[in-house]
Amino acid sequence: MSKLKIIVGSIRENRNARTVADWLVSQAKDAGYDLEILDLKEIDLPKFNSPISPMYASVDTPEAKAWASQIDDADGIVFLTSEYNRSIPASLKDAIDYLYGEWNDKKVSIVSYGWTDGGGSATKHLTDILNWVKTQIVGPEVAIPFTGATFAEDGSFNDIDATLGGVKDDFLIQLKALSE
Ligand SMILES: Cc1cc2nc3c(=O)[nH]c(=O)nc-3n(C[C@H](O)[C@H](O)[C@H](O)COP(=O)(O)O)c2cc1C
Repeated sequence: MSKLKIIVGSIRENRNARTVADWLVSQAKDAGYDLEILDLKEIDLPKFNSPISPMYASVDTPEAKAWASQIDDADGIVFLTSEYNRSIPASLKDAIDYLYGEWNDKKVSIVSYGWTDGGGSATKHLTDILNWVKTQIVGPEVAIPFTGATFAEDGSFNDIDATLGGVKDDFLIQLKALSE
């Protein structure tokens, strides 16, 4: 079975990212896919500050090496990105900047979420970045708009299936493409 992973890009307090990731993982599981979560909040990479671009020399720290082996080890990776100020969160960009060779030829897909267009601008930026580091992006793009969602007092979704359910089929097509 292909080893699939999902990178959770947002690390802020009270983020929706982990709820969305857990929902996606459970949809994947129901469809027979084992999707491992790489949560950047848990991984807690220090800010990227290497003197040399990883395009020319791998970052030689224990954190960078552990991150590199997590990516190396995956056959396919879903990038889960929120949209901050029309782009991806800095935490996600930093995690990408840490590596270069590990991204080359990696099969990846993108799931975004946000308000106006479900994170469409974040996806545009992420697509450009992922093309630059030579990943192979497989579709379809999945964008989850929060515009119709309502939230409980603790910030959780009142009806997560209603908010996210519409993307399920396209998400499963992504997983199939990542596994091939
Ligand atoms: C700093 C910041 C900037 C944001 N900018 C946008 C934006 O440009 N477009 C958008 O649709 N939503 C924007 N939002 C709303 C987020 O998409 C929404 O809060 C989402 O839940 C963020 O993901 P997270 O909760 O996993 O961090 C922004 C939120 C934050 C915190």
